[in-house]
Amino acid sequence: MSKSRPLTTLGIWSLMFCGFLGGAAAVAAGEASVSVAVQASAPGPKIDRHIFGQFAEHLGRGIYGGVWVGPGSSIPNTDGYRNDVLAALKALHVPVIRWPGGCFADDYHWRDGIGPRAQRPVRINTHWGGVMEPNSFGTNEFLDFAEMIGADAYVTGNVGSGTPAEMADWVEYITSDSRSTLAQLRRANGRDAPWRLPFFGIGNEAWGCGGNMRPEYYADLFRRYATFVRDHAPEGIELVASGAHDDDYHWTDVVMARAGDVLDALSLHYYSIPTGNWKHKGAATGFGEDQWASTLQAAARIDEYITRHSAIMDKYDPQKRVALFVDEWGTWYDQEPGSHPGFLYQQNSLRDALVAAISLDIFERHADRVRMANIAQMINVLQAMILTRGSRMVLTPTYYVFRMYVPFQGATYLPVKVDTPSYRYGTTVLPAVDATAARDTAGTIHLALVNVDPRHGATVSVRIEGAGTHSAAGQVLTAAAMDAHNTFEDPNAISPAPFKGVRKGGILVFRLPPKSVAVVAVH
Ligand code: AHR
Repeated sequence: MSKSRPLTTLGIWSLMFCGFLGGAAAVAAGEASVSVAVQASAPGPKIDRHIFGQFAEHLGRGIYGGVWVGPGSSIPNTDGYRNDVLAALKALHVPVIRWPGGCFADDYHWRDGIGPRAQRPVRINTHWGGVMEPNSFGTNEFLDFAEMIGADAYVTGNVGSGTPAEMADWVEYITSDSRSTLAQLRRANGRDAPWRLPFFGIGNEAWGCGGNMRPEYYADLFRRYATFVRDHAPEGIELVASGAHDDDYHWTDVVMARAGDVLDALSLHYYSIPTGNWKHKGAATGFGEDQWASTLQAAARIDEYITRHSAIMDKYDPQKRVALFVDEWGTWYDQEPGSHPGFLYQQNSLRDALVAAISLDIFERHADRVRMANIAQMINVLQAMILTRGSRMVLTPTYYVFRMYVPFQGATYLPVKVDTPSYRYGTTVLPAVDATAARDTAGTIHLALVNVDPRHGATVSVRIEGAGTHSAAGQVLTAAAMDAHNTFEDPNAISPAPFKGVRKGGILVFRLPPKSVAVVAVH
């Protein structure tokens, strides 16, 4: 896949820009001049729609109060699921949801979460605040929820404290259409037909909360547990191995060497932390440009991690049969003052929107290997799409980026060459403008532009090579403040606005504001 984003200086670049545009557009003082060439006649791989996936764990108010309020709640709901949240998620076309964890998964025993809710056992959520887990939201509730919003289900099984038999039974309960006792139990619990289960994870973070294993041991356990996850349904189940975090390339190497022949996907987890210090991560709002820059630089680092993990996978799997699933990613800040430290509740600002956009752009550029990604997490936890408080709900800037990127789901990646000056702050050096493009199944080309510079706008001149262009229109997300965010008191402080490019000669010219994300359809 062609990927070229040279870090030219503003001065050198300006000379190039003038030649390229032939003087077609004037550049305002202080604005960056950027040229983008989209190679529409050299399409790349399909962008798997699952890279726009989400992660929903039994953590804090992610499930309880976020998705589920119960059928008896005064909060408007459908069979216990919040109506406002259902509607908001439907608009995102959520392609896949990973559940029930996270660390929670390797402590979760699925039989706790089936049958009459009043009779389900109450457990301690040992990982997340030691709070009571009522098990009101279990297998039936999750799989029904995924169906209701049209998402694929990705269930993570318990390797750390569970048995292969327990895992085998769970998959049979979910997917068997037979008259077996487990399939009949599902029917007795109100679900006649099996659910679709396209993805199943064999444990989570086996190197840490999933069992503190060495990769050699985990690879053997993967082989053993995977043997008992049987395909009861003809469409089969893709089995996902617990993968590395960050730059733990040794984990990837060992698991691929020892189990690469029997797994369908390997996961990767990576969180962007402003300070790089887990004890003092940095605040979600009220930060300065230093933490704006360091957070975006941290987010951009996943490009290198994916490249190097993928290169190791190539040694064992040059055909790229095995996918890399970035099934946990996003920002991780200090929890909001006054909130439960175990609940990982954080605000979500324009900075998160830019993290989301540059991360999605990176996943798209690695579409040949990265075939799923799940932002952590869906509601009220870490880099959330949605925040709720009682009956109120706000959509975050990250939500809006995911909505703007919907046309990229399942589209064909188009290589993009970007000539941009750098955004520099302290030790941070990033391309000021990032761009990706894709052609959807109806033939329309979509273009995403991201300006990480919080102080300078950019004049972006786009040439679509191999396709006629007349106009480009869509939306832009930006605000005056780097930490602009929506609150329960002011839920519409930041939301997308209309945005379009102007055609000059054969080139589309966009005035991209500082600190912004724009997505347009090109006609
Ligand atoms: O997303 C929060 C936690 O981060 C998950 O439970 C775990 O897998 C990761 O360490």
